[in-house]
Amino acid sequence: MKKKILVTGSEGFIGSHLVEALIKKNHNVTCFVLYNSFNNLGWLRDLSKTKKKNFKVIFGDIRDSEQVRDSLKNQDVVINLAALIGIPYSYKSVRSYFETNVMGLINILEASKSLNLKKIIHVSTSEVFGNPKYLPIDEKHNYFSQSPYAASKASADQLALSYFNSFNLPITIIRPFNTFGPRQSLRAVIPTLITQYLNNSKIVKVGSLFPVRDLTYIDDTVDAFLKVIHSKKNLSGMFFNLGSGYGISVGELNSKISKILGVKKNIIIDKKRIRPKKSEVKILISSNKKIKKVLDWRLKYNKKNFDKALIKTINWFKDDKNLKEYNSKKYTI
Ligand SMILES: NC(=O)c1ccc[n+]([C@@H]2O[C@H](COP(=O)([O-])OP(=O)(O)OC[C@H]3O[C@@H](n4cnc5c(N)ncnc54)[C@H](O)[C@@H]3O)[C@@H](O)[C@H]2O)c1
Repeated sequence: MKKKILVTGSEGFIGSHLVEALIKKNHNVTCFVLYNSFNNLGWLRDLSKTKKKNFKVIFGDIRDSEQVRDSLKNQDVVINLAALIGIPYSYKSVRSYFETNVMGLINILEASKSLNLKKIIHVSTSEVFGNPKYLPIDEKHNYFSQSPYAASKASADQLALSYFNSFNLPITIIRPFNTFGPRQSLRAVIPTLITQYLNNSKIVKVGSLFPVRDLTYIDDTVDAFLKVIHSKKNLSGMFFNLGSGYGISVGELNSKISKILGVKKNIIIDKKRIRPKKSEVKILISSNKKIKKVLDWRLKYNKKNFDKALIKTINWFKDDKNLKEYNSKKYTI
């Protein structure tokens, strides 16, 4: 059934892919885009030129309670992807991380108390678990924050849970492990490696090569969001870990990208990119039993097809138009 859906963080990596999928499914989509003086629509800019009838943009800031309330009126579903996400930057700007990732969520939850939203979908992160006590990490695993970013997201998770328990709000939390694909920012390892292999320099700068991450291709991530939106089951108060269940180290990723592109470069360990020792999360691998069982989520790009997803991502970055845009952005954090 067609729904009125507001997406925060809609102009970002995951948000823009999700918005495209929701429009295709004929939902009425309102994109909440972070206000900026350049009228920059982020990754929605091409979509905005298509003049789709079921697509609308509101510029705003989730830190503004009045505006959040106004924009949520008459919506059926809100999906909260808006967040500050860079871990290194969170060491410097703790307050703004909490203002956006926690206080921003309070604005959504408070507004939802008096509005008749059918689903509130909040987005967590695997970073809340820190170095795991066991693998794969299921939804029962305890939290252990190793960065201010993780602490802000862990606080937001607990806040969402508390509004379900205290006010019976229909909240579901989706917790992606690492997602990758076209349009991801240079804060993430895959775009950082690919763009460095594609430039003229003879070296590739990396942080640590050892951390292992669970990588899900963006199409599978979006599919999981659609499953939550369309599910007729009562998912209120539920958390879903969203990952492939397959772990790969940064070093292995580097070798794969180098091999696919047929380019060899010298690897330089850049100290600026290494997290403080106790802040580095060594390994994150998701259990996806729950999401598969409750939502019948099936991975298209599983371990066997991982290279296909990586090649799709590399091909997108190889497009001159896209690469030019990334090359114009310096690695700053
Ligand atoms: N990409 C991943 O691998 C990954 C993994 C786990 C969790 N997540 C979570 O998924 C969500 C989306 O991440 P992404 O990778 O698309 O990142 P992204 O940086 O591309 O998107 C975040 C969006 O939030 C917006 N935003 C920031 N502050 C805002 C504010 N005050 N008001 C309104 N909008 C604001 C930004 O403009 C941006 O478009 C985040 O909540 C992140 O924590 C992402």
